[in-house]
Amino acid sequence: MNNVNQADFWQQRYEQDSIGWDMGEVSPPLKAYIDQLPETAKGQAILVPGAGNSYEVGYLHEQGFTNVTLVDFAPAPIQAFAERYPDFKSEHLICADFFDLSPEQYQFDWVLEQTFFCAINPARRDEYIEQMAALLKPKGKLIGLLFDRDFGRKEPPFGGTKEEYQHRFESLFDIETMKPSYNSHSARQGSELFVKLRVN
Ligand SMILES: C[S@@+](CC[C@H](N)C(=O)[O-])C[C@H]1O[C@@H](n2cnc3c(N)ncnc32)[C@H](O)[C@@H]1O
Repeated sequence: MNNVNQADFWQQRYEQDSIGWDMGEVSPPLKAYIDQLPETAKGQAILVPGAGNSYEVGYLHEQGFTNVTLVDFAPAPIQAFAERYPDFKSEHLICADFFDLSPEQYQFDWVLEQTFFCAINPARRDEYIEQMAALLKPKGKLIGLLFDRDFGRKEPPFGGTKEEYQHRFESLFDIETMKPSYNSHSARQGSELFVKLRVN
């Protein structure tokens, strides 16, 4: 397996413009989710980990969400984002390994998941779940999309099944929603689950 645990692996993909995962736009189900949030959500602390080119962060920012934090360990997409959004708070652009974020320093009301879970080594899935739970405030939520298919490859994206996700997440999260996404991007139709998981 390529070393997906290392920032260099991803940085090179950005430098070589080999970023097949990048949809070039906000993921439609996540845009629909953001659009139905009340005004009161706009000050909530939101994390977008493994954000890459961060169309969701850009959209949240444009909609007036003021407390959004972007984390990625590859510097290239963060730099590109900062150039696209010079008015975005630089202290909310964090170039670091998600697994190294300190829960003592960072606590979020909710986290937006978009092709980050599928990018990490599958052997680290329980570690991802533990770190996610630690970074969320009590009753905080993990919201987003998980692939509902097996890509059968030894490189990302690493897929999975609803059964696997239910089994893994239920030790630390209440599963409020885990259902096929009806409004996925055309390239991902029929292959995504929309999830809303609450720390228990
Ligand atoms: C498949 S890309 C998805 C990017 C973005 N979410 C999107 O949908 O376009 C995975 C991203 O996660 C980042 N990443 C992978 N492992 C990471 C880690 N442990 N900590 C922080 N970022 C990580 C990579 O640098 C890359 O930008």
